[in-house]
Amino acid sequence: MTLNSVQARDIAYVVHQQTNLSDYAESGGPVMVKGDGIYVIDDAGNRYLEAMAAMWCSSLGFSEKRLAEAAYKQMLEMPYYHMFNKSHLPGIDLAEKLIQIAPRSPSHEPLSKVLFQCSGSEANDTAIKLIWYYFNAIGKPMKKKIIGRERGYHGNTVATVSLSGQPHMHADFDPLSTVFRHTANPHYYRYHRDGETEQDFAARMAEELEALILAEGPDTVAAFFAEPVQGGGGAITPPATYFERVQQVLRKYDILFVVDEVICGFGRTGNMWGSQTYDLQPDMLTCAKALSASYQPISALLISQTIFDAMLAQSRKLGSFAHGFTYAGHPVACAVALETLRIYEDDHIVDHVRTVAPGFLRGLEAFREHQLVGDIRGVGLIAGVELMADRQRRVPFDPALKMGQRVADACQQHGLIVRAIGDRIAFTPPLIITEAEIDDMCGRFGRGLDAVAASINGSAG
Ligand SMILES: Cc1ncc(COP(=O)(O)O)c(C=O)c1O
Repeated sequence: MTLNSVQARDIAYVVHQQTNLSDYAESGGPVMVKGDGIYVIDDAGNRYLEAMAAMWCSSLGFSEKRLAEAAYKQMLEMPYYHMFNKSHLPGIDLAEKLIQIAPRSPSHEPLSKVLFQCSGSEANDTAIKLIWYYFNAIGKPMKKKIIGRERGYHGNTVATVSLSGQPHMHADFDPLSTVFRHTANPHYYRYHRDGETEQDFAARMAEELEALILAEGPDTVAAFFAEPVQGGGGAITPPATYFERVQQVLRKYDILFVVDEVICGFGRTGNMWGSQTYDLQPDMLTCAKALSASYQPISALLISQTIFDAMLAQSRKLGSFAHGFTYAGHPVACAVALETLRIYEDDHIVDHVRTVAPGFLRGLEAFREHQLVGDIRGVGLIAGVELMADRQRRVPFDPALKMGQRVADACQQHGLIVRAIGDRIAFTPPLIITEAEIDDMCGRFGRGLDAVAASINGSAG
């Protein structure tokens, strides 16, 4: 493979994260230089349809001028200020707006306060710290353990990666094992028993969660984290009744529910929040990515008044709420996030997702009978395509074949960026994608799949 001079400098100086470093040192990667709607263009002039919104992020695509203008205007007025004992208007406006649009349920205490950070990891890390702080404050210091799910993903700080159920991210990074536990992954297609309905499977998942809580001791379990749709696990939608069952268990043992909306928030699942799609009642909610359409790094943690009251009492006792990051609630990021939320309203983005989602799912469904495909599931504009050696008997490919990566590479050759998560291919295009662009996306995907199938059939013959 011939590398151009920019790629050579890239390899010489940059350490690429979540990347096979030795492969990358050989092959390099495309150097993206320009965005155009939902397409990106590399320095060699190749044009790709970004069917992952570049890491589940670019909800408004790559050329939204209103966001550039919002950043520029804010930089001229107040380019930086912090929020330790002081405040600024974009931060106040954004917090107020987030609470106005936060998911609500008549039977559950509303979310009423916002803490800002710069990334999804920091938002979840802050949630973990607050869970411990809260239970210490209310005199339940034994409640320390936090349960995540296998294949769940909540970030890459020491705490959030330990909470995540991603063994390859734990390997040799010495994750914390004292307080984090993992319950089963509710991936129905992959793990259901023969004859088990989605409802039966969901009941079994909830029973496994309850058994884990009982084994650990309910008085030691503080919180449960879940993404409405598991993103980093492979764009896995929850089976019917799963969250209803799980929430019953959490309520029974006084366990806080932290809903990680870092991917699902702001329209992805066809509602403003994944919590609305699946009727979740969060005690805390984290969001990032589409909060600013990722034109600026910003995340938020939303908490209830009960939790805030405990923090208030604690900070009175200790002299301060001694937590915070320099760039948390950066005014430029807040201004861009506010403008993003305005665009969502002006352009009726949730309605748009609902309009195009059926075509998106139908377009992918058309590959159900493809030789490489086992299953396809999605909601709104997020979907996972599971590659399988034998669809009927649910036999996966030998991992050594790296089938998922081969398909993603072949798609890239055909001008389509998707993400391979093991042998699941994830799709989360920008929310502004049109019906014609969905057709384009599916056409390119089909050509990528066919190319890999042809290479297998050729080598078998
Ligand atoms: C559900 C979820 N939570 C948290 C994170 C971590 O966010 P960040 O990479 O911004 O730290 C991610 C990242 O993809 C995510 O998908």
